[in-house]
Amino acid sequence: METRTAVITAEQMHAQDGYCQKVREYWTAQNAVPTAYVETYGCQQNEADSEILRGLLERCGYTICGGPEGADVVIFNTCAIREHAEQRVFGNLGALSHTKRRHPEQKIFLCGCMAGQTHVAERVKKSYPYVDVCFNPHHLWQLPEYLHRVLTKKGRIFATEEVPGVIAEGLPQKRQGRVKAWVSIMYGCNNFCSYCIVPYVRGRERSRRPEAVIEECRGLIAAGYKDITLLGQNVNSYGKDLGLGVDFADLLAQIAQIPGEFTLRFMTSHPKDASFKLFDTMAKYPNIAHQFHLPVQSGSDRILKAMNRCYDRAQYLSLIEYGRKVMPDIVFTSDIIVGFPGETEEDFAATLELCEAVRYDALFTFIYSPRRGTPAASLPDPTPRAEKNARFDRLLEVQNRISEQRHRDYIGKTVRVLADGADGDMLTGRTDGGRLVRFPGDPALIGQFVPVTITGHTTWSLTGDYAPSKEVRHG
Ligand code: SAH
Ligand code: SF4
Ligand code: F3S
Repeated sequence: METRTAVITAEQMHAQDGYCQKVREYWTAQNAVPTAYVETYGCQQNEADSEILRGLLERCGYTICGGPEGADVVIFNTCAIREHAEQRVFGNLGALSHTKRRHPEQKIFLCGCMAGQTHVAERVKKSYPYVDVCFNPHHLWQLPEYLHRVLTKKGRIFATEEVPGVIAEGLPQKRQGRVKAWVSIMYGCNNFCSYCIVPYVRGRERSRRPEAVIEECRGLIAAGYKDITLLGQNVNSYGKDLGLGVDFADLLAQIAQIPGEFTLRFMTSHPKDASFKLFDTMAKYPNIAHQFHLPVQSGSDRILKAMNRCYDRAQYLSLIEYGRKVMPDIVFTSDIIVGFPGETEEDFAATLELCEAVRYDALFTFIYSPRRGTPAASLPDPTPRAEKNARFDRLLEVQNRISEQRHRDYIGKTVRVLADGADGDMLTGRTDGGRLVRFPGDPALIGQFVPVTITGHTTWSLTGDYAPSKEVRHG
């Protein structure tokens, strides 16, 4: 499959800066400081995109506010992965008709993955007349231009055509936190798993140049960020389109060697592209977290084939085995789809068995949701919904037991935790393996790596005590 990368030129970016300036002048002439609200749905990729949207809004003179009421601009950055995600957006979009009635000058933007689907744009055109702008992820960098247009001209904007291979460097970002940061290293997906909408709404895979990624990480570390997560739908195919001879493991190694105290993570890995070299790189550099999110989707070879996942159960298990051999404390997590069309009780039993064999620390489980335009959506799907729900519950029961056992193994151990926030009287943080820990402590510890002795657990988290004099273990 041909991959084209159309890097946005300096002139195009400069033109957008011009629009930022014009939008600021518009508001100065009104003698007003405008406000903007961005609501994010979906995955970390969308969270990262929203940080860019907020950065662009600030560059246009907007102050970011905490809700849609009274905001001059409201942006919904949407997700299309499952029907439920789309329903939530349409429901919340409906409520915006009221905020707009109370503030008629409010401008409403819909962007993100839902806006990459023609049928969604059509529905917005017909049934949501108060939505001013609808643009897909390829047009994110053009936000200043759209803002300027809706403020100065009548008419709605629908920028929903696919632009192959867009990469826009140098966009401003307003990051959510000061401890943890997302860094997108690539965009799009080429895998076309038969159930998945992502390749249709985010386009083909394209990688940012390694020097741009490394520069961004360097800047984050210098600014004091302690936890960097590299993002892509399939990070293991990073660099294939660039032809520079730099693969994902190489990129990871280069970032890991930047001086400073920080932890490096990444997601998501596709099992067909995850390499032993990657595990070796993780084992070699102490600042790469021993955490691996490796979505399996199903434990049945028949279903994996129907999903177009391009690996089988045995290959998947060999990756797990190798990862544990070179990093005995590695934390594996996964995604599983229950009730893919044609999944039998036998297929599902194979998924349960796989979970028992791997013993993940945590699992993200989803009931299959047909996505318009994907091959799986036209497959016969005779399994009743009640049966799918029952399988889902059975899987959860198995996993909850395993998660509990895994968490119980932490009790009495002292682990290194990056304190990243507070929740009531407790501080919250993550172990190197990404497990959530709550412990009493001084908020001054936020942003620091601290030793915590684990004393208790639930299915989803650990509790413990700050133990400044103790040696730590990773994991
Ligand atoms: N690129 C990542 C996944 C991104 S989507 C990867 O390949 O691992 C996150 C998860 O949503 C997927 O792993 C899958 O488990 C789930 N998912 C995707 N499409 C779905 C659908 N149509 N119905 C239910 N779950 C789905
Ligand atoms: Fe979707 Fe598969 Fe691509 Fe992940 S790898 S985004 S599941 S098509
Ligand atoms: Fe959703 Fe798009 Fe992410 S569909 S899961 S927001 S890539």
